Amino acid sequence: MNNHHSSVIVGKASGSSRYDPVVHRPSVKVTGLGHYVPEKIVTNADLAELMDTNDEWIRTRTGICERRMADISQSTSDLAVEASKEALRSAGIGAQDIDLIVVSTITPDYYMPGIGVLIQDKLKAPPVMALDIRGQCAGFTWCLATADGYARLGGMKNILVVGADLQTRILDYSDAGRNTAVLFGDGAGALILRVDQDAQQLATVDNTVSGLIDHELGSDGSGCLSLYVKRPGMMAGKERFMTTQDMDERSTVPHMDGRQVFKHATLKMESLVRSLCKKHGITPDDIDVLIPHQANFRINEMVRGKLGLPHHKVVNVIDKYGNTTSATLPLCMAEAQKDGRLVRGKLVMTVAFGSGFSWGANLLRW
Ligand code: UT7
Repeated sequence: MNNHHSSVIVGKASGSSRYDPVVHRPSVKVTGLGHYVPEKIVTNADLAELMDTNDEWIRTRTGICERRMADISQSTSDLAVEASKEALRSAGIGAQDIDLIVVSTITPDYYMPGIGVLIQDKLKAPPVMALDIRGQCAGFTWCLATADGYARLGGMKNILVVGADLQTRILDYSDAGRNTAVLFGDGAGALILRVDQDAQQLATVDNTVSGLIDHELGSDGSGCLSLYVKRPGMMAGKERFMTTQDMDERSTVPHMDGRQVFKHATLKMESLVRSLCKKHGITPDDIDVLIPHQANFRINEMVRGKLGLPHHKVVNVIDKYGNTTSATLPLCMAEAQKDGRLVRGKLVMTVAFGSGFSWGANLLRW
């Protein structure tokens, strides 16, 4: 590790009390973590009763053994609220202390509005901005970066960041949908970010100060049709945004070119880690905990192998939960915190890739 990035001292606008968001980069650190998965477990054997699949195929091709399925009484926002409550408890604050909500989901309760406002209402949080982000499997990385950016506007102390998805209601549990139906599960995770406008030191790769350090985000819309849900939507050539014919034509279920997504995911996730490391003068070896999106254990193993990281540094929970889309990263954080890998002072990198194509990585000191 080189020392280009020695402690960053937070500046104050010299000789002026005017707030300058560039000069006043606040410290933004994780103070609370929560997660929630529904009780119902769906095993590979359960799925084999519904469609032409089997436990061996699912385990060897994906690493998934089981996933969770939300109860019919639950909406996506309910999963999000459970995770948020745990995050608030662990941060030692109440819903009244939330200054901003940033949430990622691709399975909102309603077509409009998003679930941010529903989370705000169910938690009885103040009437703060509740922002939905549509970054698909990379959504949580975009949420963290967005929260970090908004923190620079000033006037905020606590930001609730949530990732929640309820995929099991959108999947096609027939033979035709087997290449996606076996992959996804339901879940939610949340973080509380504490913003300190007056911190004397910001987190860097060279100190042990807790906080968000940097982000790298991107997208390439030319990959859209490799993984998408076609309807409902405002597509040109369609008079209504959804018809019964759309259901018959399986336009409302996910369609994926698995091999194409697999190829791009492995390449992009490796290059994201390398590029964010290079920007900060470190190598992948310097990362204590790598938290990758959970789409396929084989993707994460390939990325781990190419980066030369030992198994214990890379968190995987896909065997238990499948791909929970927006929730995979905080679910991994919860797991790593439980097993003792994620403790204060650890250098953490998240990395995710998904539909869009969309991708992101966050570098932070836990
Ligand atoms: O989080 C969002 C981003 N998503 C991803 O990153 C997913 C990336 N892609 C993948 O993880 C993998 O491509 C899959 C797990 C989706 C599929 O694995 P694969 O090794 O790429 O399989 P394949 O699509 O090439 O299919 C191989 C065979 C096919 O049969 P034939 O044509 O060889 O006879 C499929 O029809 O496996 C068949 N197949 C299944 N067999 C049993 C597909 N799904 C299943 C299934 N059970 N569930």
